[in-house]
Amino acid sequence: MLKVVVLVSGGGTNLQAIIDAVADGTVTNTRLVGVISNNKGVKGLERAEKAGIPAVCISPKDYSDRAQFNDALLAGVDSFEPDLVVLAGFLVKIPEAMVARYSNRIINIHPSLIPSFCGVGYYGLKVHEKALERGVKLTGATVHFVNEGMDEGPIIAQKAVEVLQDDTAEILQRRVMEQAEWLLLPKAIDDIANDRICVEDGKVKFRV
Ligand code: GAR
Repeated sequence: MLKVVVLVSGGGTNLQAIIDAVADGTVTNTRLVGVISNNKGVKGLERAEKAGIPAVCISPKDYSDRAQFNDALLAGVDSFEPDLVVLAGFLVKIPEAMVARYSNRIINIHPSLIPSFCGVGYYGLKVHEKALERGVKLTGATVHFVNEGMDEGPIIAQKAVEVLQDDTAEILQRRVMEQAEWLLLPKAIDDIANDRICVEDGKVKFRV
């Protein structure tokens, strides 16, 4: 059983997609052992509690500096003894020490086709605002392993989504979630849980 900790910052719709996929057997060999949010009182924490998953908030506001928050976050993750850490809308830079300790064991969902619209400053709704500003006709989502860079780790899977003429950022965000994110992230967890992928020379390879 792959023990998974999910990190969230807000609404937690990706967390919900994972919870549902584990519950209905789309994702197998996986146990959700904990959820951590950096924000208090968010829907993501509620979703975890409703599903009976231990949920905690570790907020930077409760620590005097970033280093102390980073230590607390790492200790919080460690306390669940996870095999995999899933960033499901976790809008905080992952501390280097965590990347080092969980090398190739942290995955992230990003709401664009990396390497477009990613990196510093590209998160949440902003990603879709930038895509609309640029006038791209296709966008999508990417699930990838997390390394020291920002959205630079090995790509596990991507799915393209059409941009429509009258889209607002909110409408586009919803379509990208429905058509890409909520499918890609559970599938990647299932692939990892069932030992179907590995990282070789900085790239993800599917075992045949
Ligand atoms: C999702 O669209 C996710 O891809 C994005 O934040 C949203 C969280 O929604 N993540 C990033 O932008 C990471 N760079 P959710 O809380 O409803 O899952």
